[in-house]
Amino acid sequence: MMDNIDYHIKKIDDVILTHLEENHVSKTIMEASKYSIKSGGKRFRPYLLFAVLDAFGVPLDTGLKTAGAIEMIHTYSLIHDDLPAMDDDDLRRGNPTNHKIFGEAAAILAGDNLLTESFNLIANDRKLSTADKLALIQMISKSAGQNGMISGQMLDIEAENNEISFEELEQIHSYKTGKLISAPVKAASIIADADEKTDFHLLKFADHLGIIFQIRDDILDVTGDVKLTGKNIGSDARKDKVTYVSTFGLDGAMEQMNRRVCLAKKELESVNDVLNIDELKNVLNKFAVRDN
Ligand code: IPE
Ligand code: IPE
Ligand code: MG
Ligand code: MG
Ligand code: MG
Repeated sequence: MMDNIDYHIKKIDDVILTHLEENHVSKTIMEASKYSIKSGGKRFRPYLLFAVLDAFGVPLDTGLKTAGAIEMIHTYSLIHDDLPAMDDDDLRRGNPTNHKIFGEAAAILAGDNLLTESFNLIANDRKLSTADKLALIQMISKSAGQNGMISGQMLDIEAENNEISFEELEQIHSYKTGKLISAPVKAASIIADADEKTDFHLLKFADHLGIIFQIRDDILDVTGDVKLTGKNIGSDARKDKVTYVSTFGLDGAMEQMNRRVCLAKKELESVNDVLNIDELKNVLNKFAVRDN
């Protein structure tokens, strides 16, 4: 099963790069867009989409372009997140950030390009029905826009140097990161035509996973190894970000993460009659240990 998932994750680069190379006017935009995709990254969102499709027993290639589109949106969010006006970071995916190589104007436009072209990729997918494509575009645009990641990013910046409540911290994490983590789960649920109950529990699982993912990112910003994360540590403290670590300390952040891992597992258990949940449980287990 895992081999099949790995195989499809490896195809993601091809799908995105081919799309970017197919038709373009500005070579600079195409090159700047390709640069951040080619830098790598864990491809966690595509992995999640394939893992959920696999749990449903649906052929993974039906999700290939959608997974590529979500990875394009995620990559755009990173290019913009690193800009001097935002987190002002120099290293991403083990390479200089996009604006360090191409300049701010091209980096902004490359981000805009990846976002825009992601919807083009889905719209032109021949493997999906028109109804599914519309549902996917609706869901993904909502997850990325002002009801999703964009609002989380704005709240994150507005919280710099400020005191915020625990509820506000959870809200920032669930929007800036959670919405693009739940998007691939929701996408798989759309493609697999999940029943209402399964869809409900999968979404709750995904909501927990989104926060778990950002708590770990906050922890790795303190304890991580640049060789593994591909980004410099200490970025959050430098920008006076409110994170789980700044709020609860390292041990407290770990506790919060583990608490959510248990809650997320419960959601999966509720659907194990219809889904093969083994791979998704493995996803959670990887978060439940320190320094991974
Ligand atoms: C980093 O995401 C930004 C967050 C939302 C935490 P990833 O940790 O998935 O980054 P890549 O894709 O592996 O570079
Ligand atoms: C990421 O939050 C949120 C995004 C939407 C990109 P961070 O700012 O903590 O992500 P990193 O640590 O720079 O990857
Ligand atoms: Mg940020
Ligand atoms: Mg950042
Ligand atoms: Mg971070």
